[in-house]
Amino acid sequence: MPLRWAMERPPGSGDGALGGGQPENGSGGGNTPAFTPETPRRALADLIVPDVVRERVLSVLSLIENHETLFVTWNLAKIDPYRRGVAINLYGPSGTGKSLCAEAIAHQTGRPFINVNYAQIESRYVGQTPKNIEAAFDAARDARAVVIFDEADALLGSRLSNVTQSADHAVNMSRTTMLRQLDLFDGVVVFTTNYPKNYDAAFVRRILAHVRFELPDLETRLRLWRHMLPDELPCADDVDSEILARESDGLAGGDLVNVVVAAATIAVNRPAQRRVRLADLTAEIAAVRRARAEVGKSPPDARVVSWEPAPAGIAPDEAGTAGGVS
Ligand SMILES: Nc1ncnc2c1ncn2[C@@H]1O[C@H](COP(=O)(O)OP(=O)(O)O)[C@@H](O)[C@H]1O
Ligand SMILES: [Mg+2]
Repeated sequence: MPLRWAMERPPGSGDGALGGGQPENGSGGGNTPAFTPETPRRALADLIVPDVVRERVLSVLSLIENHETLFVTWNLAKIDPYRRGVAINLYGPSGTGKSLCAEAIAHQTGRPFINVNYAQIESRYVGQTPKNIEAAFDAARDARAVVIFDEADALLGSRLSNVTQSADHAVNMSRTTMLRQLDLFDGVVVFTTNYPKNYDAAFVRRILAHVRFELPDLETRLRLWRHMLPDELPCADDVDSEILARESDGLAGGDLVNVVVAAATIAVNRPAQRRVRLADLTAEIAAVRRARAEVGKSPPDARVVSWEPAPAGIAPDEAGTAGGVS
C-alpha cells in the first residue's frame, strides 16, 4: 500500500458543528454538503494524450506508488517532515482530459474518489466554507478516497494581504484551512485548473508534482476521433477520422465529444438520412470554433465575494487566523 491513510480526525475538525453531512439545499444556507465517494469508472487506458503528457502522468503515479519507500524506508521525511500525503496539480486548457485523468489516477491506485467543486464548498455564510473544506477531507479520510478539487484556482488563489473587510477575512480563512488540511491529510489530493497562474505560492510549494495538459496534436486527435465514433453510431461513408483530425486543429477532447453529440443529434432528426455525415461533423467543428471566438470567459479572479452574517450555530469570522500557516 503506497500511502498510509490515517483514520483519526485532525485536531479542530471534530467539533460536532458539521452535522451529519446533510446535502446542501441551496436555500437554507449553512448546511454542510454531502461528499459522496464514487467508484472510478474511467481508467488510464481511456485517457488519450500526447506521449509527453502520458509520461508525466505515469511519473506522478510512480511517485504515489513509491511514496512509502521514499518517505519512510528511505527517510525523506527527515528533510521533508510535513509532507504526509501527495498533492498533485493537473493544469492546462479546458477539455483536455484533466478531470478524466484525476479519476483515472484514483482508479489506478484502487481508491474511490470524492469530487469537490468550488460551488459545492463555497458558502456565503462566514465560517462555513472552511467547515466544508474540513468536511471534504473528513469524508475522504473515512472512505480512504482520493480527493479531487476541480477548478481549484478559485480555492488556491492568492491570499489577500490587505485585509480590510470581513469577506476578505473569510477568503483568507478558507485558504488557511485548505493549507492546514493539506498538511494533515495523508492520502492523495488532485487539483485541476485551467488557470494555474492564480495559485498562491504556499500551495505551489505543497504540491509535489505539476502535470501540464496540452491541446491534442494531429496524431492524438486521430486517436481521439477513432475513440469517439462508437461502432454503433451510424455514419455515412464519407466520415473519415483522418479528415476530422486535420479539420479539428485547436479543439480539445471535450470539444470533440460535443461535436459528435451535436452531429448525432442532427442525424437522428433527419428522416431522409438517419446517419452522421462528414458535413454534420465539420459544421459542428466550425460552430465550436465560432463559439470560442465569440464567447469569452471572464477570469476567475473577477469573482465577487459576498458577505452576509452567519445564521445561528455558525461561528463568527475568526479574524486574524489568516496567514497563520504559509
Ligand atoms: N485526453 C482525453 N482523452 C479521452 N477523452 C477526453 C480527453 N480529453 C477530453 N476527453 C473527453 O472530454 C470530456 C471532458 O474532459 P475533462 O476531463 O472534463 O476535461 P478538463 O477537466 O481538462 O476540462 C471527458 O469526460 C472525455 O469524455
Ligand atoms: Mg475538469
